[in-house]
Amino acid sequence: MCGIVAYTGNQPAKEILIEGLKRLEYRGYDSSGIFIANNSSPYLARAVGKVAELERQVWNSAPDGAAGIAHTRWATHGKPSEVNAHPHADCGSKLYLVHNGIIENYLLLKKRLQEAGHTFKSQTDTEVLAHLIEANYQGNLPAAVQKALMQVQGTFGIAAMHIDHPESIVVARRGSPIILGIGEKVSLAASDASALAQHTDKVVFLEDNEVATLEPGKFTITTLDNRSVSRGTTNLDWNIESMDRGSFPHYMLKEIFEQPEAVENALRGRVNHAEAVAKLGGLESVQDRLLQARHLIIVSCGTSYYAGLLGRYVMETLTDLTVETELASEFRYRKLNIRQGTAVLAISQSGETADTLAALREAKRKGALVLGLVNVVGSTITRETHAGVYSHAGIEVGVASTKSFTSQLTILTLMALLIGRSRDLSYEDGHEIIRALEQVPDQIREILKQAGKIRELAEKYCHSDHFLFVGRKFQYPIALEGALKLKEIAYIHSEGYAAGEMKHGPIALIDPKFPTLALALEDASYERVVSNMQEIRAREGKIIAITTEGNTKLGSLVDDLIYVPRTHEAVAPLLTVVPLQLFAYYCGVLLGRDVDKPRNLAKSVTVE
Ligand code: G6P
Repeated sequence: MCGIVAYTGNQPAKEILIEGLKRLEYRGYDSSGIFIANNSSPYLARAVGKVAELERQVWNSAPDGAAGIAHTRWATHGKPSEVNAHPHADCGSKLYLVHNGIIENYLLLKKRLQEAGHTFKSQTDTEVLAHLIEANYQGNLPAAVQKALMQVQGTFGIAAMHIDHPESIVVARRGSPIILGIGEKVSLAASDASALAQHTDKVVFLEDNEVATLEPGKFTITTLDNRSVSRGTTNLDWNIESMDRGSFPHYMLKEIFEQPEAVENALRGRVNHAEAVAKLGGLESVQDRLLQARHLIIVSCGTSYYAGLLGRYVMETLTDLTVETELASEFRYRKLNIRQGTAVLAISQSGETADTLAALREAKRKGALVLGLVNVVGSTITRETHAGVYSHAGIEVGVASTKSFTSQLTILTLMALLIGRSRDLSYEDGHEIIRALEQVPDQIREILKQAGKIRELAEKYCHSDHFLFVGRKFQYPIALEGALKLKEIAYIHSEGYAAGEMKHGPIALIDPKFPTLALALEDASYERVVSNMQEIRAREGKIIAITTEGNTKLGSLVDDLIYVPRTHEAVAPLLTVVPLQLFAYYCGVLLGRDVDKPRNLAKSVTVE
């Protein structure tokens, strides 16, 4: 979603800001803009569409000022247009501001400001902030920002500049991340650490209701009510290479192919073979409470939600926990049964998803032990949970989650192993799971060798208007994830269904033009899935099946087959999801979709 980059230093800001915006493109956006403080003539440019469009304008006309702010906007209030793109200015064109989040009381504030004579140009909620700061400005920008934000309801991450102080940038946050990057004679701020990585590894995480003032190479922080805050920098271990596409045509494909390493990284140092148990350092501080828990609620959104659904099956198989999985956006509206012994696990790639964050805050308020399974180091969710585990998938740029999902599944299985082995999971059964997990990276490598064949299947099926994905038990969440991927990337209407539920509705849709992808591994559900496939066949539906290597029994029941290696049924989803990701990817490419940045979607959804 929206992205912020700010820079004050000793080099032309335009290059650094445009580069930073490009690093943020993966989050999804529809317009962008830049402000450069330049003593004689401050510069503002905004453009609809890709950052490349803004870049063209900037190279043609921007001055070499050494401080500025920039933004990618994902429209919420007001359509994507130049006038609605950030930065927004005050009436006197002296103050410029970019904003992520939503100002909930903007209509009321706008009315008051209009009555006081302010003139608005855009339909955005953000513009009220520019005017509100202007109304409170008496020569001191941080003080004006504090006073203005005290009147605001809603969420914000902002960066503001005033032409009276061309080297200073004031940033603030509530509910929307802002990270400071401090280097030698340069200071930066961004909503996402990936925009800072090239410049410094020294970062400062701003907390909610804090305001920071940046000057080249230095920063100060206060709270909104002007108490000073002392905070040192943290060193972040960046892996810049993982942000480049290398020889892959798209990040999504690169990230699909990175899954063997992602699973290896998720497992590294986390298995105790002698005891057939997992070692999860991030959970050690709460291990006693966790091992005594009776009830686990997993909350998450999107692909992370499907990881959670699968986590439920795995936890229920390996432990005696009662496990519920809940969409984070629904969690707060349920009457929650949080009691002593309830743990809540928030799963999130970005660690910033607004609904997931709101759900975990609610769970914390009600006294639950709150845990995180997050990819992005230092993100808000990691800082608000009692304890957690990093998925170590590396930076994921493609909007649709791929390697994060397989990392999440690996760690959920390790968590289940940790809890299960403290209860009645036997040493042998624990070992079997570990053995299966350790084989996964090589097994995924084998599956990836079939990419060419999966592309051919995509050529055959990508013009279908609809698709059904079916699976049972451990493969049911994979059916949901396969359908989500095809929707997100190829814009093909697809539904994931529990195979047994198909006869209660979707079967009415089946005809020769409505293909089904069936997850039909030779596991305990095999015979029943085959019966469901026969029901589809009887209605002349086309079937692609994913089955276990060596299974020759499907014969004429299917039109096409993809094989995956044999493994433990609880670990098999780590394999079966890979061909589905590739299938969605190739369908998207063949249909000319923007697979890394699908329309209307964002990598990190920071609004509820
Ligand atoms: C967005 C992304 C999805 C992701 C979901 C949850 O919708 O496009 O790929 O699964 O958010 O994000 P999270 O960062 O919390 O895992």
